Amino acid sequence: MTHKWPSVGVLVAGVMAVGLAGVAQQGPTEAPAGFATPTLAQNPGSQSISNGIAQPPGDTYALDQTRFEQNHDASTGLGPVFNARACADCHQNPVSGGSSQFTEIRAGHNDANGNFVAATVPINDGANSIANRSIINDRALIPQAQEHIPDAENVRALRAALNTLGDGFVEAIDDSTLQAIAQHQIEVSGGRIHGEAVEVPVLESQGQSRIGRFGWKDQHSSLLSFIGDAYLNEMGVTNRLRPKDVTTVGKITTDPEDTPDNLGLATSITSRSSFEGRRFRRATRFSL
Ligand code: HEC
Repeated sequence: MTHKWPSVGVLVAGVMAVGLAGVAQQGPTEAPAGFATPTLAQNPGSQSISNGIAQPPGDTYALDQTRFEQNHDASTGLGPVFNARACADCHQNPVSGGSSQFTEIRAGHNDANGNFVAATVPINDGANSIANRSIINDRALIPQAQEHIPDAENVRALRAALNTLGDGFVEAIDDSTLQAIAQHQIEVSGGRIHGEAVEVPVLESQGQSRIGRFGWKDQHSSLLSFIGDAYLNEMGVTNRLRPKDVTTVGKITTDPEDTPDNLGLATSITSRSSFEGRRFRRATRFSL
């Protein structure tokens, strides 16, 4: 039967080619990304290239990519509790910045009034605990810091890693556009569909809020806010937006663990936050 495979392959390829040609003719124009990242098969290594958007002096998209792919360890602020060692561990398919099969667990319970309460997780044989935190970290630098979800925290959900490619475009959408879409849904569906626009704080602009658009619950409205969270929640790397680790058990570094790099990017976030089609430039080069 193996001899049949090549012909089936040719057939599938032929159908795809016809299908893609059709899409190319009728489909919308591709949005121009700020830069392109070759796949691992095309061009191994961190070799993102600009699609025409100027790279700031001393900085390149390829350099940004290396930061996104950097494997952290205890000396660079990993842990004490964490899920993975690099952003690209979870955001990789088909190139750095994409999604992946990675899921994370969130846990908590409902109180007597049916309100959700985030988990309190004992660590260190019950000598310490991590309180008020629904995200449960799968890994730890030392066994004493390892989290185990108590049975009582019986509301649990898995969240898959999201694609971040193109998020620069999403960040650029004005609040009023999202609010108008939510309003329009009510009108065209006779009230049956009602998209909810939630207002969330912008961590890097104290006192300001914006319509949420990132994460499964639209919990952030700016990429920088999300990234500050991700550095802490996924890797345990504290930064100026999330300056404290969730436990001191197993901690060997001083907070904040992420500090401005030699481009001084921590102080120039706003001027550098120009419109970009892909986001890990901001994830990495804006030292948090
Ligand atoms: C252990 C896996 C993991 C690691 C490591 C990780 N992420 Fe994520 N990422 C996720 C998951 C899961 C989500 C969805 C989170 C949610 O809303 O519940 C996500 C969501 C995001 C989003 C929101 C995407 C959108 O369009 O809504 C951004 C931005 C992001 N991550 C950036 C980063 C950056 C930057 C890093 C490194 C500092 C990083 N992530 C590290 C798993 C990971």
